[in-house]
Amino acid sequence: MYVCNCNGIRERDVRHAIAAGATRPAHVFKACDSQAQCARCVCDMRKMLDEERQALRFAAE
Ligand code: FES
Repeated sequence: MYVCNCNGIRERDVRHAIAAGATRPAHVFKACDSQAQCARCVCDMRKMLDEERQALRFAAE
């Protein structure tokens, strides 16, 4: 499933970027050799980053 239609960034690309240390949408774009264009995907990227942060928090408890 595509998260960013402008750059062809898929959900798995975002998850790989997060696993590699991305903590902000800008980091995800950089990891995918792209940059924000319309920025409609930024909210979805933030949700994925928040979900990952929460998962790590629960895992640490
Ligand atoms: S959908 Fe990601 S920059 Fe447009």
